[in-house]
Amino acid sequence: MNIALKNTLPDYDIPAYSPSGNECALFESAWIRQLPLLLKGPTGCGKTRFVAHMAAKLGLPLSTVSCHDDLAAADLTGRYLLKGGDTVWVDGPLTRVVRAGGICYLDEIVEARKDVAVVLHPLTDDRRILPLERTGEVLEAPPGFMLVVSYNPGYQNLLKTLKPSTRQRFVAIEFDFLPRASEIAVVAEESGLDEARVAPLVDLAHRLRALKGQDLEEGVSTRLIAYCASLVDSGLSLRDAVLSSMIEPLTDEPDVKAALIEIADAIIR
Ligand SMILES: Nc1ncnc2c1ncn2[C@@H]1O[C@H](COP(=O)(O)OP(=O)(O)O)[C@@H](O)[C@H]1O
Ligand SMILES: [Mg+2]
Repeated sequence: MNIALKNTLPDYDIPAYSPSGNECALFESAWIRQLPLLLKGPTGCGKTRFVAHMAAKLGLPLSTVSCHDDLAAADLTGRYLLKGGDTVWVDGPLTRVVRAGGICYLDEIVEARKDVAVVLHPLTDDRRILPLERTGEVLEAPPGFMLVVSYNPGYQNLLKTLKPSTRQRFVAIEFDFLPRASEIAVVAEESGLDEARVAPLVDLAHRLRALKGQDLEEGVSTRLIAYCASLVDSGLSLRDAVLSSMIEPLTDEPDVKAALIEIADAIIR
């Protein structure tokens, strides 16, 4: 009885993820074949959620590092720290996962400093090693280690693209926003707002995404639509919710903002 119950329990702690193609199968194959994975796509389209979903589904520990422009190789590998008068080596998050197994996910990898690539190269070819210069160790990644990185190729910053020598070490998956019906379903699920009321928000997002590259650097993410739907669900007026979650976050330019409000007013009544 107990065993049967266990086998039929729903996957409570697997974060919900709505696939847009064969990315789940691809992730599993990359995991089985010990290949590093690169996820490309705009902000808020589900990359991080996808990794969390797959890690939980495969029962793997997940260690996520959000990269920023001050993040150096030593922040990933580790460093000597002073502890009560002694100098002790403390593993960084990447080293911990290489030692113990699991998924190390480096989010927005292009933000990190250039020396990070040097650390990733020997880990992402058939050597699968992590040399720790400071301790003299050369760690061999176990079969249960997987490296996943993500970046947003949409930014028009040439300095912030991945070098070919780095990107050609990864199996890559391109992400985009979900098709209309799936995005409506995801936003309804995340926010609690019913699909009929979510639909015009997704339609507005489509109109605003079309402006990307002209007046806007980034389109409205699924995340922002979900925020908007949550505010509406909690009782805020539709117009106030749209303004604060789908327009204000996109621009600081008064002219652009006025134009976006005009578009919103035409779609949302
Ligand atoms: N395919 C999807 N399935 C489920 N939720 C999604 C999906 N895409 C986006 N979301 C929602 O959008 C939010 C932002 O997604 P996230 O994974 O953080 O984006 P990214 O890492 O690409 O910036 C998630 O928290 C989730 O609510
Ligand atoms: Mg992310």
